[in-house]
Amino acid sequence: MAKINAAITGIGAYVPEYILTNDELSTMVDTTDEWIMTRIGIKERRILKGEGKGTSDMGAKAVNELLKKTNTKPEEIDLLICSTVTPDMQFPATANIISDKVGIKNAFSFDLNAGCSGFLFGMSTASKFIQSGLYKKVILVGADKMSSIVDYNDRSVSPIFGDGAGAVLFEPTIEDVGIIDEDLHVDGSGRVHLHQKAGGSVKPASHESVDAREHYIYQEGQPVFKAAVKGMADVSVEMMEKHNLSSEDIAWLVPHQANMRIISATAQRMNLPPEKVMINIEKYGNTTDGTLPLLIREWEKQLKKGDKLIFATFGAGFTWGAIYMKWAYNS
Ligand code: UT7
Repeated sequence: MAKINAAITGIGAYVPEYILTNDELSTMVDTTDEWIMTRIGIKERRILKGEGKGTSDMGAKAVNELLKKTNTKPEEIDLLICSTVTPDMQFPATANIISDKVGIKNAFSFDLNAGCSGFLFGMSTASKFIQSGLYKKVILVGADKMSSIVDYNDRSVSPIFGDGAGAVLFEPTIEDVGIIDEDLHVDGSGRVHLHQKAGGSVKPASHESVDAREHYIYQEGQPVFKAAVKGMADVSVEMMEKHNLSSEDIAWLVPHQANMRIISATAQRMNLPPEKVMINIEKYGNTTDGTLPLLIREWEKQLKKGDKLIFATFGAGFTWGAIYMKWAYNS
């Protein structure tokens, strides 16, 4: 029997309308456009405004666009996975809320949390359900309302993050396209450098935890930066070596958008020219689970069937990895 590959066959995405510029941020914390552009490479980020609006609202918009573009009915979907670090609530899963909002009734769904590597780990997970032959249409959503956990009094964290969502459809194919290989890692000891102190079972929410601002992102920038540069570059180069890929062979690097300097260091180690690197950090910042689908949504029209792509991420956990994919369609 022919091997079943898992291919992305469509993409949808959504970013909120409100644009928080570096100039506006400079009125909120002690920072400047120049510092943010030089150290991170972000000009502006999107913020989801509105009472009662959460991650599922952005995820549902991305899924609706995906269903429309691929001419797929909600009842055809077998499984929906949502990767997020900002679920609507601790339970139930945001994936279930998205499914409800878009009318997906015949599927099961669940959330996945792997920090900024969530979408990459989700690609791995979604593809297994397809490769097993058990399911035919699996949606992977990457969505985060990072503004809900960013402390806008903290100048070291507030410039970095933005809100956004993307969704892809995975389907089976026997052609030589789709996910070819993956190399995923975690190092839980890295959690000390990047986490949310309160709101979980170790430290449930209390007046004290709110007063101490412990429901926001806690990040020690430099150790995370060092681990990110090494983690993302190492796995990407190893993936190239394993598959005998030269920089000419690779059509695109699809890197997590955390810091322009991390992206450039990874591309440099892979010997890739800037024109082969998808970058939209300047417009959206780090949307955590949204970065990879927002990139391929923006570049979709330029992608050609058979294009060789390397996806690479690093995030809280620590989590990191690379996926080698051959693109499955022409738009
Ligand atoms: O996707 C999740 C994974 N996260 C990441 O990949 C983030 C990795 N880390 C980074 O991207 C960088 O470490 C940051 C962007 C967070 C910080 O950049 P940095 O070059 O590592 O700066 P730093 O933390 O070493 O701070 C340098 C200086 C400090 O001042 P002093 O102590 O030298 O006087 C900071 O107080 O820059 C200061 N600073 C700022 N100045 C103006 C920190 N944030 C700001 C700011 N504006 N927004």
